[in-house]
Amino acid sequence: MKTIQIAAALAALTLPAPLLAQSAPVKVAIDANGAGPKIDRNIFGQFAENLGTGIYGGVWVGENSPIPNVRGIRSDVVSALKALKVPSVRWPGGCFADEYHWRDGVGPRAKRAVTVNGSWGNALEKNDFGTNEFFDFVNQIGSEAYISVNMGSGSVKEAADWLAYMTADPGTTAGAERAANGHREPYRVKFLGIGNESWSCGGAYSATYYVDEMKRYARFVRNLNLKQHGTDNPAGGSVAGADPMQRIAVGPGSMDTSYTESVMKAWKARDWSWGIEGLSMHHYAWVKWPPSFSSTNFGEREYAVLIKDALKMEDMIRVHSAVMDSYDPDKKVPLVIDEWGAWLAKLPGSPDGSLHQQNSIRDAIIAAINLNMFTRHADRVRMTAIAQMVNVLQAMILTDGPKMVLTPTYHLFKMYVPFQNATRLPISFDAGTYSFGDVSVPRIDAIAARGTDGKLWISLTNVDPSKPVTIDAQIAGIRARAASGTVLTADRVDAINSYDKPDTVLPRPISAQVRGDRIQVTLPPKSVTVLSVAQ
Ligand code: AHR
Repeated sequence: MKTIQIAAALAALTLPAPLLAQSAPVKVAIDANGAGPKIDRNIFGQFAENLGTGIYGGVWVGENSPIPNVRGIRSDVVSALKALKVPSVRWPGGCFADEYHWRDGVGPRAKRAVTVNGSWGNALEKNDFGTNEFFDFVNQIGSEAYISVNMGSGSVKEAADWLAYMTADPGTTAGAERAANGHREPYRVKFLGIGNESWSCGGAYSATYYVDEMKRYARFVRNLNLKQHGTDNPAGGSVAGADPMQRIAVGPGSMDTSYTESVMKAWKARDWSWGIEGLSMHHYAWVKWPPSFSSTNFGEREYAVLIKDALKMEDMIRVHSAVMDSYDPDKKVPLVIDEWGAWLAKLPGSPDGSLHQQNSIRDAIIAAINLNMFTRHADRVRMTAIAQMVNVLQAMILTDGPKMVLTPTYHLFKMYVPFQNATRLPISFDAGTYSFGDVSVPRIDAIAARGTDGKLWISLTNVDPSKPVTIDAQIAGIRARAASGTVLTADRVDAINSYDKPDTVLPRPISAQVRGDRIQVTLPPKSVTVLSVAQ
């Protein structure tokens, strides 16, 4: 038997005496040699819309700003995002994408159009952050571009011209314009969103009308970067070793399956002339519309209710996956959940349409249970984008002028980096129940995976905000020597990181006791623990 000291920072050690009265350990069984699907790293993607201070202030400060920047892009934000190994960034929207005209955002900045962001508070859009700035940003953070083209107020030609500007050889007129604007090499566009919420802000199209239009975009909006795709089929990338662009169609935003049905039916009947390689789905935890839950100063009821609402993601995935399975039993088309997270009331004093909210330990727990759901559906859910990256909705990072703070959701995403491209392992446990009044949700959540580093990784969430729980995990197939990692927790359900107190919710070291094929660890209340097991 080998005993590893539990780190001093473990909150359980400092809990008041009544809370230490624990229930029996929860048994978890993991098969370290079991087979499972790959947890595609694209599950950990981000969404950044021209909205509020999500881009302006949050990412773009301009070259003349006193805030340290590289070509106008703030360096503190870039450095923080690099640590998350962000696989892709979806841009420019969201609803904004369907009124974005790319020509407004290219060429000398002094000459760019000043427009109005009609979707988000009629804010002035100076278009300083356009195509070249976006690619500079994704290249600085080491990510891939997920471009949403305008299918609402734009045209197939406008979208095709934009893709040509981004991806064509500099020998073409479009490519020469990009080169004249400072980037000779074609950009990589790895993902293409064909519209956004076309059932609502993107045009209020019926599902059948959307599909007819979508086929035209899928056919004619071509990626012309031959280094990325080879020469045969710019979108499909049929040359060996080529890296194809994935075209993602608009899918559902509720339990209504009409878009899912129509898109997948068309996909099944497609011919050589068009295709899609993904179906989008959006789901937010907001309890009711318009979102009124506060992101600060809330109590246990708001904690429990929002978590329960977030868990509706499971039904969304199940219902729409079943429709997809009926057309695509081999799961060729990924379900791309490219907007998800907690959508709460905007912070008092923040502008209308800025969607600016704080971020608490509750958000981190919601992020963990969502990522765990995606992982459990990893055979179908192969890409997602949390909404949104900086300053908007469930953000990784908050900024205010030169100040920056990393949110609990940021720390959770960093803790989950080892799960990128890991192989999911079979795990079973009795989740139990946490209840507050008439609200009940599973108390424990857990996933296990074999990382690309060869290590066994386990994530354990204790949703209960007051009671610790001891996990007794039996791991078949390996002889564990040690198990340690980090735990994210807080003393209050509404604990946040502020500019004054940025370290309130911070990952702390934690170790488990190892006994033969079992490891034991005590999870503090309202916590997420990620352990790696050394063999
Ligand atoms: O993320 C905010 C908005 O939510 C997006 O612009 C839109 O697609 C969705 O309704």
